[in-house]
Amino acid sequence: MKKFFKWTSIILGAVALLLLVGYAVVAMRVKARIGKNYSFAKEEIRFSRDSSTLARGRHLVAIKGCQDCHGSDLGGKVMNDDGALGRLVASNLTKGNGGLPQDYNTADWLAALRHGINHNGTPLIFMPSHETTLLSQQDMSALIAYCEQVPKIDRMLPTNELGPVAIIMTHFDKMPLLSVEKIDHSKPMIAKADTVTGAAQGKYLAVSCTGCHRSDLKGGEPLAPGFPPVPDITSSGHVGKWSEKDFLTTLTTGKTPEGHTLKNEDMPWKMTAQYTKPELQSLYRYLSSIR
Ligand code: HEC
Ligand code: HEC
Repeated sequence: MKKFFKWTSIILGAVALLLLVGYAVVAMRVKARIGKNYSFAKEEIRFSRDSSTLARGRHLVAIKGCQDCHGSDLGGKVMNDDGALGRLVASNLTKGNGGLPQDYNTADWLAALRHGINHNGTPLIFMPSHETTLLSQQDMSALIAYCEQVPKIDRMLPTNELGPVAIIMTHFDKMPLLSVEKIDHSKPMIAKADTVTGAAQGKYLAVSCTGCHRSDLKGGEPLAPGFPPVPDITSSGHVGKWSEKDFLTTLTTGKTPEGHTLKNEDMPWKMTAQYTKPELQSLYRYLSSIR
């Protein structure tokens, strides 16, 4: 019996040691990816700063979830802080104290939103640039023009600090931490998106749903341990049984026809509530057209 325990503890000890070494290797690899330097050709885009452009920019900030992560005043916030995932911090996007550098310019905005890098050329962490990169030139310029003129907010924020779960999930590609690696950097921006209500506009808008509902919009495993599984939102899921009215009610109130209440932290319905009615109708047409 004693011998048995001796061997079990030796084996357990060896397994623990192997796991520790394995984790150290994984952490080193992920840190090397985070420290990598990138540079991309500069793009020219035309900017206008008239009131209708700024209104469009403000609408994009609301429907693209910028405020969910960067705070309603865009002054940044700590999104998560625990031992497992670590500390994830969305930057202060204003030029107040603790915000963007004073010389942060349009090219820097483009580097962030098109390529997923900060002004030093290293990857942005957990910023969904693989989605913003697909914005049309017209929307991109409106978004930047609006962001550049929001009031300064003084807010000092701590730095990002990745926890072991975030590191391991990034290693196994289970968490979109480094969007720079997921972007097709040679793909040019489209000039203008379809603004006619219908499936084409819906497809353009649904890019913002793919981050959670997956690229085929058919859902999958929870985004992180402790979160609910992500449902299929195509015709093969509940949406296929809903009328357009059901869909609009769900995305504006968080209550589904099946009587389930969506928590805004899981499914950001306070964000989808800010889409215009025609935009939601387009989303419905597109999603229910996917078999
Ligand atoms: C899922 C959360 C999330 C959403 C949604 C999001 N961001 Fe971010 N963003 C972040 C995080 C986190 C960082 C900080 C990355 C870092 O420090 O490496 C960041 C960084 C940035 C940066 C770079 C700032 C810097 O310090 O270099 C810009 C610019 C930016 N975001 C703009 C936007 C805009 C505009 C939107 C809406 C279209 C948006 N973000 C939506 C999480 C988010
Ligand atoms: C931050 C992640 C996230 C984003 C972004 C997101 N969703 Fe969701 N969504 C979820 C999760 C998680 C659930 C399930 C919540 C639950 O079970 O309580 C959900 C539920 C839903 C449901 C209810 C489905 C059902 O079967 O009851 C619909 C409809 C929906 N989302 C549509 C959308 C659309 C459209 C977009 C894009 C405009 C979107 N979601 C963006 C995470 C997200």
